[in-house]
Amino acid sequence: MAEKLDWLASRGAPLRGELEIPGDKSVSHRAVMFAALADGVSRIDGFLEGEDTRSTAKVFSALGVKIETPSPSTRIVHGVGVDGLQAPKSELDCGNAGTGMRLLAGLLAAQRFDCMLVGDESLSKRPMKRVTGPLAQMGARIDTAEGGLPPLHIRGGQALHGIDYELPVASAQVKSALLLAGLYAQGETMVREPHPTRDYTERMLSAFGANIEFRPGFARLRGGQRLRATDIAVPADFSSAAFFLVAASIVAGSELRLKQVGLNPRRTGLLTALRLMGADIVEENHASHGGEPVADLRVRHAPLHGIEVPVEIVPDMIDEFPALFVAAACASGETVVRGAAELRVKESDRLAAMSAGLRTLGLRVDETPDGATIFPGQLAGGEIDSHGDHRIAMSFAIAAQVASAEVEIGDVANVATSFPDFDGLARRAGFGLRSA
Ligand code: S3P
Repeated sequence: MAEKLDWLASRGAPLRGELEIPGDKSVSHRAVMFAALADGVSRIDGFLEGEDTRSTAKVFSALGVKIETPSPSTRIVHGVGVDGLQAPKSELDCGNAGTGMRLLAGLLAAQRFDCMLVGDESLSKRPMKRVTGPLAQMGARIDTAEGGLPPLHIRGGQALHGIDYELPVASAQVKSALLLAGLYAQGETMVREPHPTRDYTERMLSAFGANIEFRPGFARLRGGQRLRATDIAVPADFSSAAFFLVAASIVAGSELRLKQVGLNPRRTGLLTALRLMGADIVEENHASHGGEPVADLRVRHAPLHGIEVPVEIVPDMIDEFPALFVAAACASGETVVRGAAELRVKESDRLAAMSAGLRTLGLRVDETPDGATIFPGQLAGGEIDSHGDHRIAMSFAIAAQVASAEVEIGDVANVATSFPDFDGLARRAGFGLRSA
């Protein structure tokens, strides 16, 4: 983990310009993983140079995969084939990345060798039973710390068999872990979801030549398949773009253009929510980037009004609630969030962290077990604890752009996990933001 770092954020200028948002985190993780398992050499362009995705690349280097970085955001991965990973010499560090650890749990449960997956302080508090439980049903042997927490001690050499699994909670990470284990399992693995989640694993396995059947909420694959190297172009991360969509919506006089942002429909719930709130966001230059829909997003300041967030779009905006809370704080009328209990087990308890932070800045927020009601108002200055969570830190940097006084945001080093140059880009757009 990087050293302790704080931000001082305050009103800046109206936000203007054209921004290039870095590569998608979910896609970058998977691109490295599948390229490593493929036969042949794959090139990844637009790879996110974040700590999370670099941790995943490092894990594969430790598993004997040669990965070159000819230039920033590009990786050349020399795939070793599904059966070519080597036993690591030491424990495998997933850093802050839940996606890394959960997907690796599925993949490594199927290898011949033992290994240990560890994570940082935040990841070490995140639930892993949701993957180790169904993996055990497939025949995997994984020991966890008490309460199903990391580290994960994975015993290799188990013969896995496919299962038909109905996920209790919508989770792309759990679905993906089971599909990766399923690649090695005897027979078929089927995963059913209570609500469709992001389908990058399915799409990308297919791009790497796997025979996989999938539709929203369902995926099925047969074990014993090989993967064929392919080149991947990673789209810009909608979740990172989200902070600028909200910022430009709430700062008077703003107009931003975010270039070629990934618009996979399982990611764009915030776009729906912001539009319901009255945001002025226009999509231009639609294209397909590595099989994913992308477009430029032009966002202009607009008066927002509170909404009841439709429960059915919650999984499609699961990472965007911290930003939504800030939009809600600046709207007219309350915003009600329900059905979002998963936010309590992200990099921090995001319902608690956002509610506490907005209260510190003078607002009323009524928290419930699975959501909150946000009562808007003029934000004041204050000291915010980001709980070492990248999305909480960036959200309060946005909030500060409309606050009446300076906001000090503590412990922001983790922004580097998903959006390394957020502060630089934000300043160039007009944010008042500096390191303390
Ligand atoms: C992710 C899935 C989501 C999301 C996370 C990335 C992925 O988690 O919150 O940031 O890449 O599959 P869950 O699947 O646990 O909801």
